[in-house]
Amino acid sequence: MNILVTGGCGYTGSILVEKLLKKKHKVTSIDTQWFGNFLKKHKNLKNLKLNINDIDKISLKKFNVIIHLSSIANDPMSELDKNLSWETSALGSFKLINQAIKYKVKRIIYASSGSVYGVKKENKVHENLSLKPISLYNKVKMLTERILMSYKDKIELFIIRPATVCGYSPRMRYDLTVNALTFSALKKKSITVHGGNQIRPNIHIDDLTDIYLYLLNISNKHAGVYNAGFENDSIINIAKKIQSKTQAKIKIIKKFNDPRSYRLDSSKLKKIGFKPKKKYIDAVLELKKLYLNKKLKDKPIFHSVSWLKKIKKN
Ligand SMILES: NC(=O)c1ccc[n+]([C@@H]2O[C@H](COP(=O)([O-])OP(=O)(O)OC[C@H]3O[C@@H](n4cnc5c(N)ncnc54)[C@H](O)[C@@H]3O)[C@@H](O)[C@H]2O)c1
Repeated sequence: MNILVTGGCGYTGSILVEKLLKKKHKVTSIDTQWFGNFLKKHKNLKNLKLNINDIDKISLKKFNVIIHLSSIANDPMSELDKNLSWETSALGSFKLINQAIKYKVKRIIYASSGSVYGVKKENKVHENLSLKPISLYNKVKMLTERILMSYKDKIELFIIRPATVCGYSPRMRYDLTVNALTFSALKKKSITVHGGNQIRPNIHIDDLTDIYLYLLNISNKHAGVYNAGFENDSIINIAKKIQSKTQAKIKIIKKFNDPRSYRLDSSKLKKIGFKPKKKYIDAVLELKKLYLNKKLKDKPIFHSVSWLKKIKKN
């Protein structure tokens, strides 16, 4: 297949593009490369430094599927520049889907976010529950879903709502819960937990990227919205599990400013045949092994919020 990946140089994209190439797909990545470019050169890869808002500068004629990952990808980054967040996700996605329809691209797979549910008491947060986005990031994601959904009769549309992702990527992100706590445990021998009782869903980066691969070929009768997160756990439990593998100390700070708490139910995804293979503890052990082998690097570019702040100043 000929596949366009937006945000292909990001944390998820860097793993996904590698997997697509291994499966012999032809891939084009478009990315502003705000967090660098860790994609290796490959004969079947075209790596374009391009803003999604300039999507009309390229032809989408040859593409069968678009996997749409580009976004300002967390709460604090969205708050840094509210307009940028709306422009990148909502306006950019509007332009992208219009171009995709114009060029008769068959399918678009969009990375929304499980955080669109906000705070939910239900034990099983499934796709039919109402959305109560709290932060700007959550609101932008919800609106972008709705923009894309309004075109669902014109293009095959799959919307994925991933849990917080964990695990290694060449473009590492240390702002994601399991990654952040594990790295702190390894480097500083301590883990700081804010609050701790908030329940968060998790997904390993290998499972998430496998979901995108899985959706390339699945029948369009399954088009729609899918949660993607298979392990719900409290932050304090996550910290304790990491502690058991690293012997780090846990410090609890009662005050916290991120109240999101919800349990994702992803049985819809399992019903269409997807089987997750990994747990978040696998990510912890993989990161630990890389760290002990001195292969887990710490670069300013891997801390998305401070890095975006820095490049916006320049
Ligand atoms: N990582 C997670 O835990 C998680 C969870 C739920 C949803 N998501 C969503 O999955 C997607 C991928 O997340 P990620 O973790 O790989 O984030 P990331 O920040 O590592 O990757 C996003 C990429 O998009 C690029 N980008 C941003 N604005 C752009 C624009 N206007 N034009 C072109 N490229 C642009 C960035 O340079 C970056 O490389 C995002 O949409 C994010 O909101 C991520």
